[in-house]
This record gives sequence, C-alpha cells and structure tokens, in this order.
Amino acid sequence: MQLKLTVITLTVALSTTLSKAATVQSSSCSSDSSRAAAVKASFRSSFEDYLQYARGSDELLPISKKGSGGFGNWGATYVDALTTAHVMGFDDIVKDGITFTKSVDFNHTSQTPISLFETNIRYLASCLSLYELTGKSDKGLIKQAKTIGDHLLAGWVGDNAIPYNSLVSWNDFGAPDTSNDAIIAEGGTLILEFDRLSKYTGDSTYLEHAAKSMKAIVDSVAVLPGLYGQGISPKTNQATNDYVTWGGGSDSFFEYLIKYGQLIGSTDTYIPTWVNSVKSSVKNLITHPAGGYTGPNLTHMADYSPSNGGKIPRFSHLGCFVGGNWILGGRLLTNKDTVNYGLALADSCIGTYTKSATGIGPESYVFKTESGGTNGVTIHNEAFYDKNGFDYDVVDYVLRPEVLESVFYAYRATGDKRWQDLAWTAFNSIKKYCQAPAALAAIENVTDTNTKQIDNSQSFLYAELYKYLFLIFDDPEHISLDKYVFNTEAHPFEVEKPNADYSAASFGSLPSPERSPTSTAQKTASQVPKPTYSGVPGLVQKVFNSLGLRDHRARREDLETRAQKLRRVRL
Ligand SMILES: *[C@@H]1O[C@H](CO)[C@@H](O)[C@H](O)[C@H]1NC(C)=O
Ligand SMILES: *[C@@H]1O[C@H](CO)[C@@H](O)[C@H](O)[C@H]1NC(C)=O
Ligand SMILES: *[C@@H]1O[C@H](CO)[C@@H](O)[C@H](O)[C@H]1NC(C)=O
Repeated sequence: MQLKLTVITLTVALSTTLSKAATVQSSSCSSDSSRAAAVKASFRSSFEDYLQYARGSDELLPISKKGSGGFGNWGATYVDALTTAHVMGFDDIVKDGITFTKSVDFNHTSQTPISLFETNIRYLASCLSLYELTGKSDKGLIKQAKTIGDHLLAGWVGDNAIPYNSLVSWNDFGAPDTSNDAIIAEGGTLILEFDRLSKYTGDSTYLEHAAKSMKAIVDSVAVLPGLYGQGISPKTNQATNDYVTWGGGSDSFFEYLIKYGQLIGSTDTYIPTWVNSVKSSVKNLITHPAGGYTGPNLTHMADYSPSNGGKIPRFSHLGCFVGGNWILGGRLLTNKDTVNYGLALADSCIGTYTKSATGIGPESYVFKTESGGTNGVTIHNEAFYDKNGFDYDVVDYVLRPEVLESVFYAYRATGDKRWQDLAWTAFNSIKKYCQAPAALAAIENVTDTNTKQIDNSQSFLYAELYKYLFLIFDDPEHISLDKYVFNTEAHPFEVEKPNADYSAASFGSLPSPERSPTSTAQKTASQVPKPTYSGVPGLVQKVFNSLGLRDHRARREDLETRAQKLRRVRL
C-alpha cells in the first residue's frame, strides 16, 4: 500500500514536469540509412584526401593538392573535423585525431594576428566537444582547451568588458591590436565555449569574461529592442554603427542568446533579449517580397539601418542559419508563430538552391520590399526576380553550411520528409560541382553550370556541412536537439537539463510587421552599405570591381579592411 502510493505520486510529479517541458524534435522523424551512408562515404574520402595532401595544415587546397595556413598553423581542419568523425562513428579517425590534437603546441605560433573568434569556435570548441563525446575521461583535451583559453584572455584589455579580436602577440600573452573596434559576433560568440571551459577546469575566469562581454552588448543602446548594430567599441561599450543584420558580423551573437539558455537550462539568461530580437525582426526586417513578384508568398529576412533608409532588402548564406535558430527557439519557448517564421525562412533560403542552375545557393541574394522598393539594392535580373521573388547577388559558394543547417532543424522539428529530399538534392549538386581533385572545392558561380572551382576549402566543410548533412539522415535520436546544442561551428555540447521548462520566457504574441520604411532617406546603389563578403582570395576585389568602386581608393581600402575583418565571422 505504502509502496503503491509512492509510485503514484512520482508518476504525477513526472508527468507534470514533462507536460511543461517543450521538445525541439518531432517524434515522427526517421533515419534514411542509405543516404546517411553516402554522406559518410563522401566525408571519409574528403578527409582522407586532407590527410594525404595536407595533414596537420589548417586547410587543404583541393585543386593544387597542398596544405595552407591561416588559423595559427595548428591543423584547423584536422581538429575541426573530429567531432563529425565521432558523430559518424569513425573511431580510427577520432583516435588518431585526438593524439594529433594533444600533440599540437598551442602555446606557440608563427602566425600573426590570431583571431580570437576563429580560435574559440574551431579549436577550443572542438577540444571541449570531443571531451564530452568521448566520455569525459581524456583530461589531455581539457589541458589543450585551457591552454587555448588562457591565450584568448589576452583579448581583454584592462577592465574592458568586450575583447579585441586581433591577437598580435599570442606567444607571450601580449596586448591585442586595439586599432579596430569589435563587432558583436566576436564579443558575443564566447559564452557557450567559455562556460564549458570553466565547468571542466573548475576555473570561473573564462565564464566571467564571456559573460561580461555578452552583458555589455546586451546592455548597450540597441537600434531596435533586441537588435544591435554590427560594430561595438570595447572602450565605450557602445555601438559604432546602426547596421543591423542576422548575417556575417552579427549572426552568432543572436544565435548564442537562445543557445546559452538551452545549454544551461535556464530562462534567467539572454533568452528575453532573444525574444526581443525576434519580435523586432518580425516587425521591421521580415519581408514578403513584392514589386513584380506574384508567385507563392515568400518570407525573407532583410538587413536594416535607420541611417540608410531602414530596411535593406538583401540577405546572405551566412544569415540563413536564422531559420534553424528560430525553429530551435520557437520550439523551446513553445511559440508556434516563431517556428513557422523559421520554417518559412528555411524554405526561402533553400529556394536559392533549388532555383539555381547548379542546385547550389549563393553567398548573397537581393529582393524587393512589400512596397516594391529596393533602397539602393540592385536587382540584376528583373525577369528572374519577377518569377522567383529574389535575385542572385554575390554568386560564389564556399562550402558554407548555414542553409542545410536550417534544413536540419526544419527536419528534426517537423519530421517532414520533404526536408530530407531537399538536403539530398543539395548534397548531390554539391558533389557534382564541388568535387575536386582532392576533397571538395568552393565554386565561383552557382548560376553557371560551367562554373570554375576555386582552390579553397575551409575547415567548416568538415565540421559543419558534412555533419549537418549526415544528421539529417541519421537516427534522429542520435545527437538529438533535445540533448545537444551546437556551437556556431557545429560542435555539439551536452544540454545540461534536457527537460528544462522554458515557459517563464513566454513570448506573448508576435507584433505585426511594419509595411513602410521607417525613414525616407532611401539610398541609391552607390550609397547603400555593403554586406559582408566571403574571404575567398580574389573575391573581395572582384566584388569591388563589379561595384565600380575602383576609383574610390580610400573608400575601397576602408571597405576592404572591413571585409577583411568580418570575412570569416560566422562560419
Ligand atoms: C602551454 O603552456 C602551459 C602553461 O605554461 C603549460 O601547462 C602547457 O603544458 C603548455 N603546452 C605545451 C604543449 O607546451
Ligand atoms: C504573405 O504572408 C503574410 C504573413 O502571413 C501576409 O501578411 C501577407 O499579406 C502575405 N502577402 C501576400 C502577397 O499574400
Ligand atoms: C554567373 O553566370 C551567369 C550565367 O552564365 C552569368 O550570366 C553571370 O554573369 C555570371 N556571374 C559572374 C559574377 O561571373
């Protein structure tokens, strides 16, 4: 009798908790083992090419079959690939790779500067994630993570809350380059990694630094509630411009606002800020393109800058992670409208793949607003726009993952096989046009079936693109989105409280979109601020040439510095 009563009480308590806890994943997902095997085989073949031609280099040059540097020369591709190898079950690669990772001398580099951001999201995150994935026994990985973290702390000058990104004196923990201000994607993409580093070293210093940086951004004067300008000064903790974008330079700050709450299972974090980011975006950035386009209703995300006439109707491959991010946050906070916006954004992003000649999406694309305006953005091909509701802008593809990342979230949250089919088609297009003499290569023009390949493949091909593709087809309970949260380089971290209740961060309802521009200061093509372009050698120059900026030397240098600075952010 006693016993029975106890059992009943327990059951009631348990079901109350469960009914509150939201799940990210749908229960109707299933695996597709033959497609999963095909992705796995391609990863293995590409990675073996890396080992053969560039083992220990940061990147493999896929056409010239050589190694190249740029990330401290610590073997970025090797270290970055290992969590994917683990997820795919390649124990031999993981075993050798961990031996390699532990042999790297992270105290020294001949390269300068070192990017705090890139080093954190690729090397530090991979060491921590591998430590968790392999059963939290290999303290050698934590030792390496701690070495990296200690050097990264040099980015903070004096009592500054926000670090400088450019570490010019790595070997002796010296002062960073303070001549450029920070951007929010740098100071705002540390909290997941530094939290885990503090947890596994027992030293709170790392988390304290990341948290004060995050807080400074959140507390700075926003352009709109929850939406901050891209640049921020570590000296004043205030924005240096009013350029709002979910794309490069800002992206993973917004991404981590919701993900950190999920990591530690608490709404008492940056989740309320993220809710504001979403609400302001719905009101001011979400765009259903019109002005000649009469096809099925599409949902785009635009950039936004009050000093440049408000909405700037263009978006980027980097920014396309937003669909998945809204699906994740919408599911956690049980806000159906946000999930639906996320699905619609994922749909329009994969649409840039399905509508292109190669089946692959571009670095950036443009459209018109509800009122048919473009605010200085150039539609290159009006007929294509009228038919499709967007036009291609910068047409290279550098093996970025964000569109398929969002397709992964869309599939895991809905179980709708259509997403698996879209991913499968994209994978085959990528194999067709990007398969190079060694591994995969970037391509110059996604709208051209005769496109040339570019002798470039960044480590995120292995860390992110292959991982998300594989997980779309793998057993959905493996690396479940209810148990793991991905850092911005797709390294999974264990969620601390898988059944946490986020209902305290209730959304209420989403605002209505504003249809008219908030300012009358509409821009012309030469005035509209330029987005962040890819870091592929030569492309930045090409873009400036195509914009006719050749004669504006000072301006070009300024833009080039900016592009250089932003180029690898949110990979
Ligand atoms: C790097 O420096 C730290 C601190 O001095 C030390 O504990 C660690 O062993 C060094 N790592 C290597 C690979 O030399
Ligand atoms: C597109 O959908 C949005 C949101 O549901 C709606 O407000 C808008 O009027 C629709 N536009 C068209 C042209 O149907
Ligand atoms: C890309 O290819 C299309 C189709 O061949 C062509 O019209 C366009 O000019 C190319 N764009 C660039 C930047 O090379």
